[in-house]
Amino acid sequence: MPIPRTYSFMRYLTAKQSVDNRALNRQVWQSLVAALPCATPEKPLQILEVGAGLGTMVERLFAGGMLTHATYTAIDLEPTLIAEARRRLPQWAVAQGLQVQQDSQAQLHVQRPGQDIMVETEAIDVLRFVAREQGQRTWDLLIAQAFLDLVDVPTTLPALLSLLRPGGLLYCPITFDGGTVFQPEFDPELDVAIEACYHQTMDRRLIAGKPSGDSCTGRHLFAHFRAAGAEVLAAGSSDWVAFAGPNGYSADEAYFLHFIIHTMHTALTGHPHLDAGRFTAWIAQRHAQVEQGTLVYIAHQLDVLGRVPAPIGETRE
Ligand SMILES: C[S@@+](CC[C@H](N)C(=O)[O-])C[C@H]1O[C@@H](n2cnc3c(N)ncnc32)[C@H](O)[C@@H]1O
Repeated sequence: MPIPRTYSFMRYLTAKQSVDNRALNRQVWQSLVAALPCATPEKPLQILEVGAGLGTMVERLFAGGMLTHATYTAIDLEPTLIAEARRRLPQWAVAQGLQVQQDSQAQLHVQRPGQDIMVETEAIDVLRFVAREQGQRTWDLLIAQAFLDLVDVPTTLPALLSLLRPGGLLYCPITFDGGTVFQPEFDPELDVAIEACYHQTMDRRLIAGKPSGDSCTGRHLFAHFRAAGAEVLAAGSSDWVAFAGPNGYSADEAYFLHFIIHTMHTALTGHPHLDAGRFTAWIAQRHAQVEQGTLVYIAHQLDVLGRVPAPIGETRE
């Protein structure tokens, strides 16, 4: 596909779905399935997803047969993404043959025999949500996909864990872990310099004056979980690997690649350690490689499943 003239984060999130589907670590996923408590109509599973974007994880869990009786709360900071999730999810439910009832703008009730799922959506900052819900409500499972690498984990993780019931689970798939690889090589020295500078922008990111990012979040989660009093039940890599097969890039992955290159362009323009002319040539070459179907992109990420302790002998049945 030609280089896009404009970029849309919504289209990027939609395009990354097929890349995520390939990347998600199957062993961690199976551990999640095994660790989930039984849901019943009387005791539906309480699931909270933070940084939920367009709500694509609801669709994935449903397709994986994990949602039978559940209340699924999906929150995201961005009102436009939540508005799009509210537009998409009823369409998805109808396409699945589910009976759909829109209880309110923020509540979608979807049912079919043996399945009953309430999806609640809200545009709100994660820490504001935690402050409001702490001591009011608890969840069995908290999901944070491609999210913890964007926030200050030492403050956000304990806050999130405080919303879990004893023995509750935290599933953090697609957590960036310090590897950005493009093939073919352009200039090995420049490739390495651009990767290092790009990761540095994540490490130095400040939002409202607070640290908000770590390019090696994935590997650091082991220590963060321990420090916050949670145990790691399963972990494994979930690297994105995007390449063109005999029919070109899958789905909308050419757009996904253009978006990643554009993000790097924006993040590194004017960087004092990069020669402006060579960097511009690098960006132009990477976009051209997507058009030609020769660009391979690999991002190293980890999926981590954790659990907060339950008092001995206590289980949720
Ligand atoms: C990389 S996107 C991932 C979206 C989705 N989890 C997915 O994998 O498709 C990160 C999401 O986190 C949201 N986000 C970032 N900071 C947030 C915050 N402080 N509170 C709530 N959501 C936040 C962004 O708006 C964005 O939708």
